[in-house]
Amino acid sequence: MYVCLCKGITDKDIKEAVRAQGVGSLRELKQLMPLGSQCGTCTKVAQKIIDDTIIDD
Ligand code: FES
Repeated sequence: MYVCLCKGITDKDIKEAVRAQGVGSLRELKQLMPLGSQCGTCTKVAQKIIDDTIIDD
């Protein structure tokens, strides 16, 4: 599903960044992709996906 509609970023993209590139925070994620750079409404959901992915692994 799309998390960031403005930039076309999916939950899969975020999980991949956590697992494959060791992203551990929203700040690190934003360094890799433009998530949240337009309207910003996606950042809360993105943060939750980062947290859940870290807990799952
Ligand atoms: Fe992510 Fe708008 S939905 S910046």
